[in-house]
Amino acid sequence: MAVMSVDLRESWRIRDVEIPTRLVLAPMAGVSVQAFRRQGRRFGAGLVCSEMVSCAGIEHRNEKTLGYLRVAADEHPLAIQIFGSDPRTMAEAARMVEAAGADLVDINFGCPVRKVTKTGAGATLLDEPARAAAIVEAVANAVDLPVSVKMRRGLRDGSRTALEVGPQLVDAGAATLTLHPRSAQQMYTGTADHSLTAELVSLVDVPVIASGDITSRARAQAVLATTGAAAVMVGRGAQGNPWTLREIVDGDCGEPTREEVVAELVLFIRETVRELGERRASGFLKKFYGWYLGRGRFPRPFKQELVVLGSTEEVERRLLAAAPGALRLLEQLEAELPAGDEVLLDLPISIYGGG
Ligand SMILES: Cc1cc2nc3c(=O)[nH]c(=O)nc-3n(C[C@H](O)[C@H](O)[C@H](O)COP(=O)(O)O)c2cc1C
Repeated sequence: MAVMSVDLRESWRIRDVEIPTRLVLAPMAGVSVQAFRRQGRRFGAGLVCSEMVSCAGIEHRNEKTLGYLRVAADEHPLAIQIFGSDPRTMAEAARMVEAAGADLVDINFGCPVRKVTKTGAGATLLDEPARAAAIVEAVANAVDLPVSVKMRRGLRDGSRTALEVGPQLVDAGAATLTLHPRSAQQMYTGTADHSLTAELVSLVDVPVIASGDITSRARAQAVLATTGAAAVMVGRGAQGNPWTLREIVDGDCGEPTREEVVAELVLFIRETVRELGERRASGFLKKFYGWYLGRGRFPRPFKQELVVLGSTEEVERRLLAAAPGALRLLEQLEAELPAGDEVLLDLPISIYGGG
């Protein structure tokens, strides 16, 4: 069958950036930390993306915002996503993204959350095509990196705005478009209508990435085959479940053992603590416990036990006690990672100092 012949291990390009597989890990605010992205690459994502970073935060050299610009040696190719509504500030942010070592600068025209849309950024820009194009043009002129744009189908249910705006953004300099074909109004309800993705593919001559409801190899292959998209993007399906990426790319359907789950989770905890510090990481990680341990992998009360523990070290101890064989796997995983000081590349001084 034609659908089954789609090869997810095929490489493709966004201008001169080579993407080794046709699977992209989605940007997700509050999720896409460096540990998530590095894990995604290990499990078969050809491209990973930071969560959206405020261009105003970058302009004001907000320390927490600048932390989002850290790029690890084993993340490439990596896109860093920025959001904002002012072309000049977005161009400045894009220059910092380039200086930080990203391979692509991604622009968010899809965020439906009020906190973002009320500032004129995110999905609202789909209703302001001239401004959206001015942002893309300013960013494309500011950097040598290829510029990508991620959008929703439009603001209101049934909207087809992305099909009008998408080609204009390509004319303005976008080297690739990602479409999540839900409306902003829909948030995450209903289903992603990838017939719109197919229409967008037919309207532009740049690669299109299909985002929304890709949770299995069969679905990925069907969407690639029926839309002509260059790649599929996986978001929620990969939360606490990197194994789904491997299944989608390689067709390896084996459920992970408890030991594998615990080893990946403990590695994720350690790396996140290193990235965010213990205080921020311990709150951030709580949702991941449910994501990793759910899906019938561990009894439900176990997650409840973990979220009330006082430190991530205690969480680690409890996890390793529940699956002692995980320790050996964890040591193997850690041995295969680049050494600690190779991981976080220093940002140029000017990024911190503003001068
Ligand atoms: C928790 C969460 C945070 C997200 N944050 C972002 C973001 O920062 N930037 C963005 O472009 N999309 C964001 N998205 C949208 C996803 O990238 C993706 O397009 C959407 O979830 C549909 O794909 P899925 O069905 O595979 O999850 C987010 C989605 C979720 C669930």
